[in-house]
Order: sequence, then structure tokens, then C-alpha cells
Amino acid sequence: MLVEKNVPLEACNTFHIVAKALSLVRVRSQADVQAVLASPEWAAAPKFVLGGGSNIVLTGDVKPLVLKVEIQGRQRVQETAKAHIVEAGAGEDWHEFVAWTLAQGYPGLENMALIPGTVGASPVQNVGAYGVELQDRFESLDAIDLHTGQVFTLNAAQCAFGYRDSVFKHGAGAPAPVGGHQTVGLKDRALILRVRFALPKVWKPVLGYADLDKKMAEHQCSSPTAQQIFDWVCEIRRAKLPNPQLIGNAGSFFKNPTVSPEQCADIIAREPRVVHYHLADGSVKLAAGWLIDACGWKGKSVGNAGVYDKQALVLVNRGGATGGEVMTLAKAIQTSVYERFGILLEPEPVVV
Ligand code: EPU
Repeated sequence: MLVEKNVPLEACNTFHIVAKALSLVRVRSQADVQAVLASPEWAAAPKFVLGGGSNIVLTGDVKPLVLKVEIQGRQRVQETAKAHIVEAGAGEDWHEFVAWTLAQGYPGLENMALIPGTVGASPVQNVGAYGVELQDRFESLDAIDLHTGQVFTLNAAQCAFGYRDSVFKHGAGAPAPVGGHQTVGLKDRALILRVRFALPKVWKPVLGYADLDKKMAEHQCSSPTAQQIFDWVCEIRRAKLPNPQLIGNAGSFFKNPTVSPEQCADIIAREPRVVHYHLADGSVKLAAGWLIDACGWKGKSVGNAGVYDKQALVLVNRGGATGGEVMTLAKAIQTSVYERFGILLEPEPVVV
């Protein structure tokens, strides 16, 4: 087991914030995690699990032992009457995995093309885009308990998926996520080793999202293939969202807030153009990007942290931004949206 010291993390977080891991172990297998847990020096030490670093804001050097997950491998492991069950190691790049499933003839993940990060991080925040969430295609995952070393398997209900939420974002004893089941919270406790997806044998495109409808009209195509949807989602994302390799960012910085129909009616009375979607349970989801945009934040900066000029929901590193600058900007945005609309935006990334 090799423990690296003072490892620069700039290339390991998509915000490209400069910080160090005081101690870091690259984990390439279940046995590597077990070796850490068997080590007298590190067994009881606080640990931080790092995947692709696409959903974190580093506000300083990371003192807990960083377990950088680099577990590879992807294969079809099973076939059921309805689905191909495909498994990937937690360290696989998410987008490359999505492209691979399509190339193998297992469509179903195409709406989630080009989401930055690793397969292992995808269940943590139940990633989603263009009408499909990870939970819609999830079969099960294997994880290791960092306290006991026990390997366990969770199904979708046990993961307690919610909107950008799961059991992995909640500490022990924390209340269940909205709409989720009560499970012991696994934040800072579990390291995801492998994830399995159920990809339907009878595939149907998931359409109905405004940006995808536009692509269908443009291409005069009413029944696209999975590959076409994959290509369109890549085009849409490249046009709207900054490429983290060029401009540091962590995707949407805030969740889209959900309000009651009464609250929404009140906002519409004042702001008739507010972008909103009615949900099946009667509540209403508001577009946080629109709210931030309406407060005039697009293109604005605090120090070297800024609001992306094509999507106000995305905060960017304009070069050399610190985590402190990103969080100061985030707080200023929260304050102005709260003062104008009475809504407190909830950040999506984990602040480390
Ligand atoms: N809008 C504005 N101004 C802005 C940004 C957005 O008016 O600056 C309006 C848009 O015109 C649109 C609406 O707000 O009418 C929603 O915008 P968009 O379609 O870009 O989607 P979003 O709600 O901002 C969510 C996800 C994205 C995901 C897209 C597509 C969240 C927090 N974000 O964004 O996920 O790619 O939908 O499904 O749910 C991520 O989580 O990192 C992420 C990028």
C-alpha cells in the first residue's frame, strides 16, 4: 500500500481549485481498500473518498486520508427477461462508460451522456439529465463499509434515491431524503466499488425535454435512435455548459427548488415569466438558473469565481479561484435570490 504525501489535487477536481491531499492512496481494487483498513496506521483515520472530483468544492488542503477510487472494468454480467445487466468499476469515467454501453448495443443511458465524473460517484447524487435519472436505470451496487471492512450490496430502495440525493449524502441518524426510505446514512462511511445498471432490451427513447424537442425539429426526425440522442445531448451540453477541461466548474451549483402551488402562484403574480414545471405530486419545480439569471448574476464575479455567461446555474473558476471565493459567490447568489423570491437555493456540490 503506497501512501502518497502532499499530492496536488488541482487536476483531481473539475473546479481546478488548488489544494493538496496531505495523504492519498490510489484504490484500484477491493483488496486495496481492505489493505488500508487492515493498516494499523490508517484503519481508524478519517477518510475522504474521491471519485472524479466533479461535484466538490475544495476550501483548503484535505486532511483526512484521501482514497482516490481508480477501480476499472466494465462488462455485461447478466441477462434477465427484460434487461441487460451491465456492471462497471467505480473508477470508470461515466461518459466513456455511457458511450461503451451504446457501442455494445445496450442503450438506455444516452440522455445522461457527457456528465462529468466517475461511475462510482453517479449514485451518490443520483445524476440525471434530459428526463432520465440514474435511479431509472439502476440495478444495484457493491460498496465497502469503511468502519468494518464489510462488503455489502444495495438495491435502489436501499440507496434511497431522491432528486440529486441518496443515502450516501446523509450521515448516520440523519432524516431520510425527501421521497426516500429511511436507511442508516452512509455519508463518509461507504466506498462504492462497482455499480450495476439494468438496460432495457426493449428500448424506447425518452423525449419531451424542450432542448431535445428542438433537435428533433431541426433534424426533422420524430423517432431518433439512441446514438442520435447521445449525439444531441452532447451538442446541447457543449453549447450550454462549460467544458471542465477548459473552464473549471462543477456543473449545476444549486438544485432546482421545489415549492408548493401557492408559493409558485405568488411568484408568478410578481414574475409571470418564471420557468416552472408541475410535478406529479402536485408540487412545482422552479428553474434555479432562471431565478439567478433574473437577479442579474450572469457573467458576474467574486474574485476569480464567476457565474457562467451561458447558464447562470453554473459557477466557474475564471483562473486561480479559491474555494472560499466560490462559496462567497454562492452565498451572495443565495442571498439575492432569497431577498427577491423568498427561496433559499440549496448547493449541489459537497463542500470539503
Ligand atoms: N434558464 C435561464 N437562464 C439561465 C439558465 C437557465 O433562463 O441562466 C432557464 C432555461 O431557459 C430553461 C430553464 O431555465 O428554460 C432550465 O434550464 P436548463 O434546461 O438548462 O436546465 P436546468 O434546470 O438549469 C437541469 C440539471 C442539469 C441538467 C439539465 C438538463 C439540476 C440542478 N440541473 O438544469 O444537470 O443537465 O437540467 O436535464 O437539476 C448538473 O446537475 O450538474 C446538471 C448540469
